[in-house]
Amino acid sequence: MSGPFDLQDEAAYAAWRARKLAARPRRLEELAVTVDDPRDPGEAALEAVRAACARANLALVRFPRPLGKDELRDFAARLGLCRLDHNPCADEDAVTSLRVREDGPHRGYIPYSDRPLSWHTDGYYNAPERRVRAFVLHCVRPAAEGGESLVLDHELAYIDLRDADPALVEALMAPDAMTIPPNEAPEAARAARTGPVFWVDPVSGRLQLRYTARGRNIVWKADAWVQAAVERLRTLPERRPDWVLRHRLAPGETLVANNVLHARTGFRDGPGGGRLLYRARYHDAVAAPRGAKEDRKRAVAQ
Ligand SMILES: [Fe+2]
Repeated sequence: MSGPFDLQDEAAYAAWRARKLAARPRRLEELAVTVDDPRDPGEAALEAVRAACARANLALVRFPRPLGKDELRDFAARLGLCRLDHNPCADEDAVTSLRVREDGPHRGYIPYSDRPLSWHTDGYYNAPERRVRAFVLHCVRPAAEGGESLVLDHELAYIDLRDADPALVEALMAPDAMTIPPNEAPEAARAARTGPVFWVDPVSGRLQLRYTARGRNIVWKADAWVQAAVERLRTLPERRPDWVLRHRLAPGETLVANNVLHARTGFRDGPGGGRLLYRARYHDAVAAPRGAKEDRKRAVAQ
């Protein structure tokens, strides 16, 4: 492997790092794309979403109204997001309704409560063949108060660690860096999951992150470098508040993300239905911009 995520390839890293930091969005608004007709978004809007995701692993898509689950899934499919991840709490069609729920298998899970949700990537407890590479988070109804989304591009997290010491990155790329103990709850039973925190997807060459700031039910490798790296990740949003993009989703607004680091502030529901978001997780990443592919083809042809 060579390229920006190869610890031996200093030149590729330096070039990629410079490009990445120069293109860093200062506000989420820079990644916003308006779609007038959800059923016919048009190639220009789709390309703008792909370009935003190529730049920052994130786009904010504005629809004129909240979508139905089928419409949301159809839109995602146009971005190359086709292989949905099923989880035990998802509704039958694998698009999850996130709202305060106190019944059944949702009880006790923070995503289904009004409490703050700490920094994580989605599906960090999934088996390797079910890695989550992208998620879509669509607002049907915001909370009466709070419920802000916070996002931080995981490629920036990589830069933070590698600049501090490449050994920190190396430690988190170890295949036994992070273990999620088995879940014995019958409705969500799974075996222990051991794997890396950072890794490079062998097919796409993309950098992936598997992480949660939760202290409970995570076993970090008993290694000084892993421990130091995890501490750096934990403090990253405080150390680099300028890297955190914050937004309270309005009805019809949607985050499309290549599974970046994200968190949620606590909220309060008022009368009128309460906060409702649809979330879909995918084994695919958002497709690369078509323009980039054409450029590559031209470069090869020359
Ligand atoms: Fe999440």
